[in-house]
Amino acid sequence: MTVFGTRPEAIKMVPVVHALRTREDLDVSVCVTAQHRDMLDQVLAIGGITPDIDLDLMRDGQSLDELGSRLLSGLGPVFDEEKPDRVLVHGDTLTTMMASLAAYFRKIPVGHVEAGLRSGDIHHPWPEEVNRRVTACIADLNFAPTQRAADALRAENVAPSSIHVTGNTVIDALFATRAKVADDPTLAASLDPVLKRFAGKRIIAVTSHRRENFGDGMAAIADAVARIAEREDVAIIFPVHPNPQVRGPMESALGGHDRIALIDPLDYPGFVALLDASHIVLTDSGGVQEEAPSFGKPVLVMRETTERPEGIEAGTALLVGTDAERIISETFRLLDDEDAYAAMSRAHNPFGDGHAASRISEIIANAHR
Ligand code: UD1
Ligand code: UDP
Repeated sequence: MTVFGTRPEAIKMVPVVHALRTREDLDVSVCVTAQHRDMLDQVLAIGGITPDIDLDLMRDGQSLDELGSRLLSGLGPVFDEEKPDRVLVHGDTLTTMMASLAAYFRKIPVGHVEAGLRSGDIHHPWPEEVNRRVTACIADLNFAPTQRAADALRAENVAPSSIHVTGNTVIDALFATRAKVADDPTLAASLDPVLKRFAGKRIIAVTSHRRENFGDGMAAIADAVARIAEREDVAIIFPVHPNPQVRGPMESALGGHDRIALIDPLDYPGFVALLDASHIVLTDSGGVQEEAPSFGKPVLVMRETTERPEGIEAGTALLVGTDAERIISETFRLLDDEDAYAAMSRAHNPFGDGHAASRISEIIANAHR
């Protein structure tokens, strides 16, 4: 039984579900917690997946403790009823941790996709660093996207025989979606109106949603974005996360600006097309840090730390924190200094080769022979 609930988990688990379903030796079910509702449904629709079980747990402005308790008490009975031989979770959300715990309480083995990412700081990102560490204590199959992630697990005494370096399934999703959009550009039509509006400008894509940035961090990001948009040669396209703690402050700080488009979350093909059309990406997202290097787009990471240092080491991503002056100065440097831009815009792909999902399905099938 695969269990997931948010947009990024769904994007990264769709290829895994499809790979598992190609195997006759496995009986695969999909349980969604719907920790996210609309953003999850967007991904499921495009990914062609109808969940077998949908717990429909999202509430507006949910707190960590109310969501956490709903997840645990919602998932337990599902596992009791369905009695899966294995639960497969992804990443580092509250769904990930609570599904791992509910499975552990019933002695059901857990597989963890995207295991071993570590920032080393339990407050950045918060609460994801603890979510994934808890799951690492429980999982007996750990699918590490990179060698570095595998090393991090070994350093925490996770059994070496449980660790498999597979690549990140986001690259599977990205390659498949990029190819589909190339074949049929109408798939990314959600982006067309805003690209038309900003024709001739250099596009800066912005995303932001981290809980540890709520309040002062979000205000600083909004301030930086507003001041960057004072330049007439750029335009900002900012698909705004629906969390009220993000949407409210961003709309009041940035709404109505000529060169800023605050738009609803894009479906995945639309967002892939936005990355492709962008000159620079400003983000505090995890997944976007993994995707942008494939397009050779410089990424300024608006966080204090990252669990994805591979992009920083390769020189395609730079940690800029949430200091408005630093975000602005690094953005202007990339806009004005061709050499600085060229140095960061090399296309490369430290996170995977597009075949992670089939490796994961093979390992799971072997574990249950
Ligand atoms: C969650 C994850 C985070 C992940 C992020 C991806 C936790 C604690 N956080 O954060 O690790 O990086 O998803 O986006 O697991 N909402 C909607 N519609 C949606 C989705 C969200 O309206 O489709 C609003 C709701 O008001 C909801 C709020 O956003 O209560 C927060 O959602 P939640 O999943 O708790 O937190 P995220 O910040 O999205
Ligand atoms: N994404 C999307 N539409 C958007 C913004 C992002 O499909 O409008 C995708 C993006 O390509 C990436 C994922 O959502 O795969 C990242 O999700 P998010 O930033 O919400 O979560 P994180 O990766 O930080 O956990």
